[in-house]
Amino acid sequence: MEIQEYVDIKNYSTFKIGGQFRYFVVISSIEELSQIYVIAREDVKYKNTPIFILGGGSNIVFSDGVINVVALKIEIKGFEIINETDEYLDIRVGAGENWDDFVKRSVEMNLSGVEAMSIIPGTVGAGPVQNVGAYGVEVKDIILNVEVFDKNINEFKILSNLDCKFGYRDSIFKNEEKDRYIITYVIYRLSKKEPRIPNYPDVLKYFADKNLLNPSLENIREAIIFIRNSKLPDFRRLPNVGSFFKNPIIENILADKLKENYLNIKIFPIDENYSKIPAGWLIENAELKGKSFGNISVYDKSALVLVNNNNASFDDLIYAKNEIIKIVFDKFKITLEQEPEIV
Ligand code: EPU
Repeated sequence: MEIQEYVDIKNYSTFKIGGQFRYFVVISSIEELSQIYVIAREDVKYKNTPIFILGGGSNIVFSDGVINVVALKIEIKGFEIINETDEYLDIRVGAGENWDDFVKRSVEMNLSGVEAMSIIPGTVGAGPVQNVGAYGVEVKDIILNVEVFDKNINEFKILSNLDCKFGYRDSIFKNEEKDRYIITYVIYRLSKKEPRIPNYPDVLKYFADKNLLNPSLENIREAIIFIRNSKLPDFRRLPNVGSFFKNPIIENILADKLKENYLNIKIFPIDENYSKIPAGWLIENAELKGKSFGNISVYDKSALVLVNNNNASFDDLIYAKNEIIKIVFDKFKITLEQEPEIV
């Protein structure tokens, strides 16, 4: 385990924005993880430097300059079947595994549950933090347990699905237990039953067009890859962190008013009081799709994504973000909230 110094963040961020980590370590096992905490506590050199956990860097925005942290790049690997019945299989996967490698492998094993989340960038360990989701499915739907290192007491623990208090792009790892747990393994329960077409407009349309009523898992994965690629930019070509804003949850009174004024608006009811409104629609209808703010642009195929055109700085991004929030607020009286974390 080697502690590196002044490591370029751009290599660890799919947005290609950010300065340098003061210290940086690759962690490949749970032994190394507890070891680094002992070093961080006892070695005067690192004593006052906070530890920061890095996953795939695909849903996080870093500031410029030197960030005074010991960044841990979690590369704990593993894919182990721990329980099997006629109906399902429980699999324990290392937090450092690439998310889509896990999805691909599950589909090849004919196990359903994760296929709708094909080609989401990032690592397995990042999934529970923001309850990653796509096309009507969220990781909370298939997570049984999350194994963590509790840095407050230097012990490894197993949290149940309920312990994680999952919500829309939300969990205890972002809120009350922020900075306490490090995810080491995630245990998923995947089904052996026939897959169902994800109940989501784009996916339903894809299969209706193809006239495919009972698609295989492989077909569903192909559909998701096709739909995502047609809407979301590849970060290797156009650096980005996926959706930059959350879909706001608004009161139904406001939702009804918007429906009266904008006939094409798509609103998703949540309960008798609240509805979810697509931030992409708001941004597009504030005439911002494809617009550039310096080196940052609103992606022309999905207004929810911001892309880094050319070496954007952190300040460029914050300027673009604030302009978008202001323009959308002026038009709709709805305040957009950023989705990725900022460090
Ligand atoms: N829309 C527009 N204009 C746009 C983009 C979207 O009007 O430029 C409207 C669409 O017409 C559609 C609605 O917004 O009615 C929803 O759009 P879409 O299905 O593309 O999904 P989204 O709400 O933009 C969310 C997630 C994505 C996830 C997709 C598919 C959030 C913040 N984003 O996006 O997640 O892939 O649904 O399930 O919830 C991510 O988190 O990084 C991410 C990509």
